[in-house]
Amino acid sequence: ASQVSFYEQVGGSATFEKLCREFYQLVAADPEFRALYPEEDLGPAERRLRMFLEQYWGGPKTYQAERGHPRLRMRHHPFAIGPKERDTWIKYMRQALDTLQLPPLQDQTLWDYLERAAHAMQNRAS
Ligand code: HEM
Repeated sequence: ASQVSFYEQVGGSATFEKLCREFYQLVAADPEFRALYPEEDLGPAERRLRMFLEQYWGGPKTYQAERGHPRLRMRHHPFAIGPKERDTWIKYMRQALDTLQLPPLQDQTLWDYLERAAHAMQNRAS
């Protein structure tokens, strides 16, 4: 296995900060999708997503320290995520990822994961 984590290979914290900032800017600009997020301030949600992704790809384990085991399916259960919400999330994440202009292999690796995870998070049939 490589000594250098994927987290480091793609540019470390700056990369994940930008990805999540761009993503949440798109969320903030879409009132209908924005309404899914319970908090008035999207900052904490942005930070949780960033910490989770950093940890997942071999960066700092701050997420685990602050939030415990991710249990993401369970944590998403209160939010009605049908095909439409899932696809909106995927669309904005694709746009956010595009702003990073990563090398194709790194882009594909991240994208495969994010798209698959989004499908796993769907919890309503419609
Ligand atoms: C939290 C929506 C997919 C990671 C949340 C929250 C909402 C939400 C409304 C609560 C905001 C908050 O943190 O207070 C969605 C929708 C998705 C989706 C509509 C579409 C499928 C994903 C995916 C991931 C993810 C694919 C990971 C790859 C997270 C994390 C949190 C979170 C880490 C914070 C959990 C916590 O510690 O409480 N999401 N999400 N989400 N989401 Fe998603």
